[in-house]
Amino acid sequence: MDTEKEVVKKYILDMWGNYSETVLDHALNPRNVGSISEADGFGEGTGECEDTMVIWLRVVNDRITEATFWTDGCGTTIACGSMVTELAKGKTVKEAFLISREEILQALGGLPEESVHCAALAAGTLKNALQDYLEMKRFPWKKAYRQE
Ligand code: FES
Repeated sequence: MDTEKEVVKKYILDMWGNYSETVLDHALNPRNVGSISEADGFGEGTGECEDTMVIWLRVVNDRITEATFWTDGCGTTIACGSMVTELAKGKTVKEAFLISREEILQALGGLPEESVHCAALAAGTLKNALQDYLEMKRFPWKKAYRQE
């Protein structure tokens, strides 16, 4: 007899037949969900469909040691948030700025055309968090006024 998780996976595969195993894995078991208190970087983004994503970063010596996200978007957006935070962890801030929509798409094994904007949302939200990190580094007093 199938476990509940296997049943859900079959159901999703029926609905999402043209999504890769990696997308399904990250949509069903997203990594790095949640917030980081007193984060070093915080970014928000809104997709062309109005779904939103937020990303928190912990940065030590200009290297990302923790990256987390939250989204109110669909399963594909969850998969993209999960993947972009996985890709960011361990990278320097400079390296993380280079994470593109294409890199996320490649790491996920591709997305159908109508879902490509979810990867753009994740890439853009990460850039906003990185920019926030640089801003807070220059003007640490601004952290007190940041809306997280
Ligand atoms: S961000 Fe719009 S459907 Fe994913």
